[in-house]
Amino acid sequence: MIKVEDLHKTFAENYVLRGVNLEIRDGETITIIGGSGCGKTVLLKHIVGLLKPDKGKIYINSTEITSLTEHELGEYQKKFGYLFQGSALFDSLTAGENVAFGLHNMNFNEKLIKKKVSDCLGHVGLSGVEDIKPAELSGGMKKRVALARAIAYDPEYICYDEPTTGLDPIMADAINELIIHLQKTLKVTSIVVTHDLSSAYKISNRIAMLYDGKIITLGSPEEIKKTSNEYVKQFITGSINGPIKLKLKEF
Ligand SMILES: Nc1ncnc2c1ncn2[C@@H]1O[C@H](COP(=O)(O)OP(=O)(O)OP(=O)(O)O)[C@@H](O)[C@H]1O
Ligand SMILES: [Mg+2]
Repeated sequence: MIKVEDLHKTFAENYVLRGVNLEIRDGETITIIGGSGCGKTVLLKHIVGLLKPDKGKIYINSTEITSLTEHELGEYQKKFGYLFQGSALFDSLTAGENVAFGLHNMNFNEKLIKKKVSDCLGHVGLSGVEDIKPAELSGGMKKRVALARAIAYDPEYICYDEPTTGLDPIMADAINELIIHLQKTLKVTSIVVTHDLSSAYKISNRIAMLYDGKIITLGSPEEIKKTSNEYVKQFITGSINGPIKLKLKEF
C-alpha cells in the first residue's frame, strides 16, 4: 500500500500541494483527475521520489520514502514504472534501446535484455520495432514504446501521466485496454493521471479529484458520476459555470 500523508509543496510563490492525503491499495487502478496545473504531475513525481515535499510523508508499505538516502531511493524507484507525460523517449536511441534503458542498471545480461525488450514491445503490440528511432513513430506508437519501457523491469507499480492525451479515440481505447491488461496479467498497482474521463471511468477502481492542492473526493467511477460535490460535478460535465473559476493568467 502507498500512503500519502499531508503532502505540501510550494514552488517559489506557487503553493501547489496543500495537504494531500491519499491511500493507494495494492493491485488497484486509481486515477487522479483535476484541472490543468493543479498539481497532478507534481503529486505523481513525489510518489516516485522525483520531487521532495516541503512537508508530509509518503509510505510504501512501512517504508517512509521522503527521508531515504539517494541509494535507498534508487532501490525503491526500481519498484516503479513511469510513463511520463509526453512519453519522453530519448530521440537519439532506437525504440529498443529506449526500452532497454533502465535494464542496464539491473545486472541483466545482454541476451536477457534483448528478450525482455522484445517481450515488452510484444505486450504493447509493437513487436519488431526495436531498430526504429522515435522520430519515425506516430504519437500513439511513442506512448506504447514509453509504456514498454515502463514495464520492462517488472515494476510493482506503474504511474501513467496522461496516457491517452493526444491520441485518437481508438488508439486511446487501445491504451485503456493495455492498462487493464497489464493490471490483470502483471498484477501491478496503477496510478493514472488523466483529463480523459471516459478513460478514467473505464480503467479505474477508484477516482480521486485534486483541487486547490487537496484531494476533494475519492470514489468508484459510479460514485463519481453521481457525486453531489459541486466542484467535481462541474469538472466532469466540463462546464464554465460553477464554483471553479478559471484563472486567466494561466492563458
Ligand atoms: N519543477 C517545477 N518548478 C517550478 N514549478 C513547477 C515545477 N513543476 C511544476 N510546477 C508548477 O506546479 C504547478 C502544477 O504543475 P503540474 O505539472 O503538476 O500540473 P498538472 O496538474 O499535471 O497539469 P496538466 O494537466 O496541465 O499536466 C504548475 O503551476 C507548474 O507550473
Ligand atoms: Mg501534468
